[in-house]
Amino acid sequence: MKSVNIHKLTVSLGAKSYPVIIGSGLIKRNEGEVHLPHFKGRQGVIITSETVAGLHLDRLQDLFAGTEYKVTPIVIADGEQYKSQETLFSLYQQMYDAGLQRDGFVCAFGGGVIGDLAGFAAATYMRGIDLLQVPTTLLAQVDSAIGGKNGINLPVGKNLVGSFYQPRAVISDVDFLETLPEDEFFSGMGEVLKYALIAGDDFVTFLEMNYQEILAHNPKILAGMLHLCSRIKADFIARDELEQLGVRAILNLGHTLGHALEKAYAYTGIKHGVAVAMGLVFTAYLSVETGSLSDDELQRILGLLQLFKMGLSVPAEVQGEELLAIMARDKKVAADSLKMVLLRNIGQPFLCTEISPDQMLAAFEKCKQPL
Ligand code: NAD
Ligand code: GLY
Repeated sequence: MKSVNIHKLTVSLGAKSYPVIIGSGLIKRNEGEVHLPHFKGRQGVIITSETVAGLHLDRLQDLFAGTEYKVTPIVIADGEQYKSQETLFSLYQQMYDAGLQRDGFVCAFGGGVIGDLAGFAAATYMRGIDLLQVPTTLLAQVDSAIGGKNGINLPVGKNLVGSFYQPRAVISDVDFLETLPEDEFFSGMGEVLKYALIAGDDFVTFLEMNYQEILAHNPKILAGMLHLCSRIKADFIARDELEQLGVRAILNLGHTLGHALEKAYAYTGIKHGVAVAMGLVFTAYLSVETGSLSDDELQRILGLLQLFKMGLSVPAEVQGEELLAIMARDKKVAADSLKMVLLRNIGQPFLCTEISPDQMLAAFEKCKQPL
């Protein structure tokens, strides 16, 4: 196997600081040297999905074999619909039945659904117990496992109940991505492309030069890509943990239209990261429309998305007015004006509130054209 460096970085939050560890073959390394130091209590639960349990749970559980740890797996059915109040309360019961005490831990082992659900359970069970994130989708590794956002959906909308609760560590092993279905991989790439547009030329050039290796899942390049994304996310979290200063909000680049598309498709017809990628195309057109982005930069962005087979156009049946109405109800509406992250250049995102509905509709119509 090609050797893959272990990348380590810190999310700097004073007493709540924690490491993000990225690499390949992490579970097999020297009797749990990567994972076990972060499991402080001796009793815990691993919360995972049916699919991840079937593919990878044995390997994680083997870490604890022959040790003093007592770890109980809790397996949740797959799907966004299980990020629900019913699953949450059944989780609390199973955590209690497993004998989990105040000094125990929750290990979230799966994609963003598991991370959000298990994160919220850890944040609230006995007023908060230790949480470790071991993400297994690309989306969770580059985004959702880092930064402490968690929560569940309500029947009336997504992510309406939740908290900020930082994990003790995030351990991202690219080996898990070998079993990830391609559509889930591309969904994660939507978030990766978002980071590249936020970070600027170096990251965009890295993606332009390495796209074939990334698409071929070269573990060394994937680990490098995860490191770049995680560093950016860690930096934004350290500067604005609770999304109150207009800094962390920049990470919502592409998400306002993305969320509206997900809602228009009733959260089943389109994957989160794919909707974000469409949102990035929309953001680029809107930034040109409002005069902040040059046409050359627009073409570079569209070219980048095409390299990753994400040169997507919004389906013709989706109506701009419908999406505008959904966006107007979005959480990012403050004092009646829609707050969107736009681009001044690649690498220069900014929060903009002065966007007219006509500019939005014009940009939206451009997203329907084939790239
Ligand atoms: P997901 O968690 O639903 O995972 C997708 C599917 O892949 C699931 O069926 C899962 O069981 C399976 N899977 C996971 N790892 C696998 C592997 N290694 N091999 C094979 N199959 C595997 O989807 P996701 O895209 O990871 O996460 C989406 C969720 O994340 C949404 O609920 C979204 O709201 C949330 N999210 C949260 C944040 C945050 O900051 N907290 C950010 C972005 C998204
Ligand atoms: N996914 C954006 C954030 O964590 O703030």
